[in-house]
Formats: sequence, structure tokens, C-alpha cells
Amino acid sequence: MSNALQRDLERLVARVEREDGPRAAADPYRQRFHLMPPVGWMNDPNGLCRCGEWYHVFYQYGPFDPTGGVKHWGHYRSRDLLRWEQLPPMLYPDQPWDIHGVYSGSALVEDGTMYLYYTGNVKHAGDYDYITAGRGHNTALAVSRDGVTVESNELLLENSDYPENVTCHVRDPKVWAQDGKYYMVLGARTKDDRGELLVYESADKRDWTHINTLTTPDKFGYMWECPDLFELDGQWFLVCSPQGVKRQGNRYQNVYSCGYFPLYGDFRGDYTLGEFCELDCGFDFYAPQSFTDGDRRLMIGWMGMPDADYTNPTVEHGWQHCQTVPCELRREGARLLRIPASEINALRGGRIPPERARVFDMECRTAPKGRLAIRGAAVVEWGKKQLSLTLAQGGAGRTVRYADVDAVKSLRVLADTSSLEIFINGGQQMMTTRYYPAPEACGIVLDGAEADIWAMGAL
Ligand code: FRU
Repeated sequence: MSNALQRDLERLVARVEREDGPRAAADPYRQRFHLMPPVGWMNDPNGLCRCGEWYHVFYQYGPFDPTGGVKHWGHYRSRDLLRWEQLPPMLYPDQPWDIHGVYSGSALVEDGTMYLYYTGNVKHAGDYDYITAGRGHNTALAVSRDGVTVESNELLLENSDYPENVTCHVRDPKVWAQDGKYYMVLGARTKDDRGELLVYESADKRDWTHINTLTTPDKFGYMWECPDLFELDGQWFLVCSPQGVKRQGNRYQNVYSCGYFPLYGDFRGDYTLGEFCELDCGFDFYAPQSFTDGDRRLMIGWMGMPDADYTNPTVEHGWQHCQTVPCELRREGARLLRIPASEINALRGGRIPPERARVFDMECRTAPKGRLAIRGAAVVEWGKKQLSLTLAQGGAGRTVRYADVDAVKSLRVLADTSSLEIFINGGQQMMTTRYYPAPEACGIVLDGAEADIWAMGAL
């Protein structure tokens, strides 16, 4: 299934990747073990799934503009979560219902066939605010049997199909099968500026009925982007990226937030949401998505933050942003732990002394109070109640972030060329950030921590 616009876009994307790819690849801040766009812009992970022997990561891809542009679904696949093969985009903005962007969505895999649910964005020309009017926010379904090409694409829901109380901001379908039916959650902004999730049910994957709406009794932000809803070890969790939540102490320090509510009861009927818990206290973590591969629930997030007032110098090399490493989710009471997928350990090379560390994996046993200075660019400091991450130089505008902690007992730091993923106390809390040390800078100064450090390589 293809049309003339898709054929032209295919050629254009291939050409820009060929022509601009070498400049991006030559950037000293190019990552070693994180997924990046070949050129241009990357945001949310989409359609994460395992289909047969392949893991697939699709992502919001703006090949023509490192600061955004019209979104496609870029595509990587891997058999082992380590070696990734770049494929041509899976979805192009080439249908009347997605002409201004193939926005975020998810994958349902059934009998080896991939059902890709996404939001088609359409912006009508005119004097609109694009919140209450002027935008088509369509739910669409693309089907792929070979996991590489799309054989059908159809519009499922359009503006008139959503409840009366919502604006034109309804998007990011997450779909799963349960109890012989299919369920979908969509993030929404209401006309009175409250974030909520719409729950839909279907018997056949195409015809959807709105059966419930999930929200908090008191307003919690004006829009909930990129929802995810799943059961883990007997507890339901509602993950979303709420916009418009104001800072309270060390909570919600970023312009937009990202975290989860434990959900009690039944998402299809009576339910209550427990206290919202942030998934990350760093600068760059947003719009994560989870999926199961049979054995475990994995999560990947976008290592970026929309509308932040800090930047990334990679734009000068024609690309921007990356994904986090895949993490396994585990349950601890009503909390989620994030732990790097065990596959990541295969990237560990030889053990190295702290002064040689540049791209590394480090496991620390920590004293109650301590400090790590990383490559002269980032300082992590902790004490009884708080852990801080300070990026004086090399933050490209990033300053400091805090995490409230009971006590820091262990830290694991995954450091790539231009990112840090800091796992506090076995993944109870996290801080994820991009950072830009001088390219040749290396070395960690440890105070109050004993560490095992491995150089990280690419396979
Ligand atoms: C989140 C988001 C989604 C949307 C996509 C567009 O970062 O705004 O809600 O589908 O990005 O790229």
C-alpha cells in the first residue's frame, strides 16, 4: 500500500539521511549505546513490541529538521536489544488524516501481525488556537504483516467520535488485549483544561466504544500525554506525561512531568488513582512507553523534554535527542522500579579505574553522604534527605535537579558520550539527563562511594 506522496517522501527521507547522515555521525556527542535519529529530530518511542524474533522501536522522527518538523514513525529493530538495525520509516504523513504528522501510538501484536495505532494530526489553515478548534486529532490503524512495510492504513476515530467535553487534544493511543477484548487509552485535554484518559473497548480492533474516563478528583495538569496502563505483579499502574503541573518543592521541576498513579479497582468501571509518583527527577525524560516481551515488562523513554528552556548542541550537527536504554519494570508495593535490561551488561568491556572513565557503567556502594564529579561536567551529591545533580559546565542551559530520598544506599550510573542515567537505590528513583562535557574529558572523582566501573562499548 503506497501512494505518490509516500513514494516521494520515501525518496526524500533516504536522500536527506544519505546527505546529512555523515555530518550527524561525525558529531563528537553522538551516543554509543542509545538510539538516535540518523538525522533530524527524535521524540517519543512508539509502537514498542516484540514480534517473532524481533524487538521493534518506532519513534517520532522529523528527518527534515533537527528542531522538530513534520513527524514520521522512524524504525529500528533488534534481536537482542543491543544491535539495532535502522529501517526506513514505517509511517509517513501521507494520508488525509495524518498529513501534518503521524503522532505517537502503540503496537498490538497478534498472530505475527502488527497493528499500529497512532494519532493522525491535521492542522486546518485559519486563525485557530489549535486547542479548541482547527485541529483534526484522528485515531488510525496501520497493519503490517512483515514488520517492515505497511499494507493497510485506516481512520478509526475522528473529532466527532470523542466525548463532548474534550478539546482537539486527544492523542497517543495505547492498545492491548485482555479478557477476549481490546482496550485503548487516549490522553486528553478537556474544555475546562483538565488532563484525563479516555478508555475505549473493542471486540474487533476497529470499532471502538468509549466506556470510561480516568482522572483525578482534583485537577492534575491540563493535558495527559502518552498514556500507558498495565498490570504488573497484581497491581495496575497508569503512566502518563501530564502537562501543566506546578512545581512543589522538589517535585515537578521540569516544564512537563512524567510518572504514574497506582490504579485500584477496575479501569473499566469503579476505580481510584493513588498518589502520583514521578518516574524520573532529571532534566530529560518524557513520554515513556512499556511493553512485554513474554518474560518481563520493559520501558523506554524519550531522553528529552518538550518546550524546555535548555538546549542540545547536537543541533549544529543536524540531529537532536535519543531514547533511554530499555529498562525492566518491577513492582515494589505501589511503586515501580526501573532497572536496566540485563542485556545491557553485555556492553561492559574491561574494568577501568575512575580516572579513565568516559563512556561507562558504574555500580557504587555509597556512604550516607557523598559526591561524584563526572568528566568535569556533572556533580552528583547526596546526603540524608536529598540527592542533587548539578551541571555547571556542559549542561547547555541545564542547572540543577533534586530528588527527595530517604537514604542513598546504592547508585548505578550509565554514562554515554552525552547522557547520564542515574539509578538510585536499585531503580527506586532515577535521574536522566543529556550533558555535554568537553569531548575528550574523562574521569570520575568519588567521595563517599566505592565503585566498580566498566568501559562501555558498542557491539
Ligand atoms: C509527546 C507528544 C505526543 C504527540 C507527539 C508528537 O512528546 O507531544 O503527545 O503525539 O509528541 O510528536
